[in-house]
Amino acid sequence: MEIQQLDTTDPAARRAWHAVMEHAVRSDRPHALLTTYDAFEVVATSPSTYVQRTWLQAVEGSEVLGVAELELPLEENRDLGWCEVDVLPGHRRRGIGRSLWDAVVERARQDGRTRLGGEVSVDLSVAGAGLAFATAVGAVEKHREDHLLADLPVAPAQVDPAYELLTWRGRCPDEHREAYLAMRNQMNTDVPTGELDLEVAVLDDARLAASEERLMKAYDVRVAAARRRSDGVLGGYSLLFVPHGTRYGWQDDTLVMPEHRGHRLGAALKCANYGGLPGDVAEVHTWTAPANTAMHRTNTGLGFRVVEHMYEVEAVIA
Ligand SMILES: CC(C)(COP(=O)(O)OP(=O)(O)OC[C@H]1O[C@@H](n2cnc3c(N)ncnc32)[C@H](O)[C@@H]1OP(=O)(O)O)[C@@H](O)C(=O)NCCC(=O)NCCS
Repeated sequence: MEIQQLDTTDPAARRAWHAVMEHAVRSDRPHALLTTYDAFEVVATSPSTYVQRTWLQAVEGSEVLGVAELELPLEENRDLGWCEVDVLPGHRRRGIGRSLWDAVVERARQDGRTRLGGEVSVDLSVAGAGLAFATAVGAVEKHREDHLLADLPVAPAQVDPAYELLTWRGRCPDEHREAYLAMRNQMNTDVPTGELDLEVAVLDDARLAASEERLMKAYDVRVAAARRRSDGVLGGYSLLFVPHGTRYGWQDDTLVMPEHRGHRLGAALKCANYGGLPGDVAEVHTWTAPANTAMHRTNTGLGFRVVEHMYEVEAVIA
């Protein structure tokens, strides 16, 4: 068995890497939301300015038995990397996961990184090996979130009459960009991250535009925002992605700015996005920290149910 770096110029190799990742993860995570092949193609073939990505694979003969991904943030958090390791079910407990981990650590160290983080998700009814593996390689839990799933449609939420809802798809219209950027940056500082010690990424217009451009290649990007009728101020937003060619949504950020809280805008914003989806989009995934009581209640009130526990873990590799 040999650990190789994926040749991202080889379409067949990219297809095989993704297929192994999908099979390995699906085997004990029936509710996993995975990067689609189309979305993987975008990141694998067009490097990002903000994150350097490397894909590894464990190969025996011509067969790929396991895969790993390493992400090195290039702007902030330059002391850490993020990784994922996945091994096909028929080839586990042979040291392949550890070999992939070792290769990831070596590359992260070469780039001067001293910490490696990752997400380990555990299905509520299928015992997976992810946490035992993470512990075996020296990673410890830093933060926990629930992965929740809702079937669509959900019952529509009331909109406080002091607000009106706006929606857009793809790029944020120019007239809302400044307010949207302020909210996105507020979100990055407000979202609970437990004991994770992370530098907060600051979005400016260029970085927002780059992210919008990239996301639109693989996702239908939908945003709902709440505007206070009395003064036109934007008080919150919710961001939803629908991967091209799929029948599910991925609920990302939802933020209500501090002075606009208490009007149940969170539920109204989410419902505005869900209500606008094509009828064949049947479910929505989201992640919320159990300690984030307001958002957790909003989600369960809308019909979301917990399907997995997601642990953010981190190992010191200095
Ligand atoms: C987690 C995973 C990558 C492990 O791959 P693997 O090739 O079986 O791992 P290894 O054989 O190198 O195991 C390394 C150590 O992890 C621990 N471990 C792995 N699987 C375990 C299990 N089922 N139960 C208990 N400990 C386990 C052991 O300490 C093991 O060392 P040992 O075999 O000498 O006791 C694999 O089970 C997998 O792909 N799971 C789904 C994806 C996932 O959860 N990835 C982790 C998130 S990054």
